[in-house]
Amino acid sequence: MFSSDKNVQDSCIYVAQSRPVNNLEKDVRCGLLARPRCLPPKYFYDETGSRLFDQICDTEEYYPTRTEAALLRQFSAELIDASSPQHILEFGSGSSRKTRHLLSACERLGVACEYLPFDVCEEMLLQVSQEFNQDYSWLDVKLLIGDYTAGLDYLHQPSGTCMYVFLGSSIGNFSVAEARAFIKEIRRCMKPGDSLLLGVDRIKDHDVLHAAYNDAAGITQEFNLNMLQVLNEKLQANFDQRKFRHEASYNSVDQRIEMYLVSEECHTVHLKSMDEQIHFLEEEKILTEISHKYSKQGVEDLLTDSGLHILKHIEAENAYFSLVLGRL
Ligand code: SAH
Ligand code: TRP
Repeated sequence: MFSSDKNVQDSCIYVAQSRPVNNLEKDVRCGLLARPRCLPPKYFYDETGSRLFDQICDTEEYYPTRTEAALLRQFSAELIDASSPQHILEFGSGSSRKTRHLLSACERLGVACEYLPFDVCEEMLLQVSQEFNQDYSWLDVKLLIGDYTAGLDYLHQPSGTCMYVFLGSSIGNFSVAEARAFIKEIRRCMKPGDSLLLGVDRIKDHDVLHAAYNDAAGITQEFNLNMLQVLNEKLQANFDQRKFRHEASYNSVDQRIEMYLVSEECHTVHLKSMDEQIHFLEEEKILTEISHKYSKQGVEDLLTDSGLHILKHIEAENAYFSLVLGRL
């Protein structure tokens, strides 16, 4: 049998929720029908959203992806050598493009391992599985489908040494308190010898930050507005994207980018499947994402607060981004 013939369906695991999380209707009730208006960022990632996110990563302005990728290209062998993983479990893996550096290092070092990408976007996971079965014939891929904010108690527990991976500064999309709580949850999954590799975006020049979330080609705008399309499809709603604009700005007090959809006029939106209406005022905002930025010390505190000790802290030369490896 050729590795690309592997039956993808056989290697899908739906991760059961260990605490109740809102479904879309409840999130809309608590977040959109109440004020201030907000929506959880996981709703960005339908198939279109995931594709747009990958395009954001390729824009000139969005430095985090290429900075993190360069660090992984240069230091993957060192990271794999330090953690000797038999399993690599990645949260919010998306297209897993940067993870290829870790897998290639495994290949070069003769470290046989299993890859477990964990994501809410099933279409993306299936695509990654197909690509990786072709490109890494030696690799076992097990897809974990679920919501990592719903608790990790029922996360598939690999038997051997596991490297947990959380890249792209997705940790920044949590508040600092939520980020700490999430790392503590990962820590509870870990056995002695397991490790956690975290990619974290750093505090820097505000103009650089601002540009990263306001690319000139308007892809971030399209990505943000796509959330309204997701609501239209899933809730038979009638959001008109033309009545909203994308807004992203750096809040230097809270050290985070805040991303909004702003209603440009006073208007009403109908949510047919919920039999509800939303009355938007002119300039009323919906918070769709925060992206917290960390100091060097802040990055380390995230791990040490959870009882992990830091094995490596690799920074970009311009200190734009950190890759930190912690071990139990
Ligand atoms: N790690 C990749 C992708 C980052 S984009 C990179 O660094 O480029 C964020 C990814 O996390 C998307 O693939 C999205 O589908 C996934 N995601 C977002 N919220 C999630 C949640 N609550 N549970 C599981 N996956 C989630
Ligand atoms: N984790 C990414 C970040 O905080 C997510 C992201 C990048 C994002 N660009 C975005 C989310 C634009 C929403 C809109 O940088």
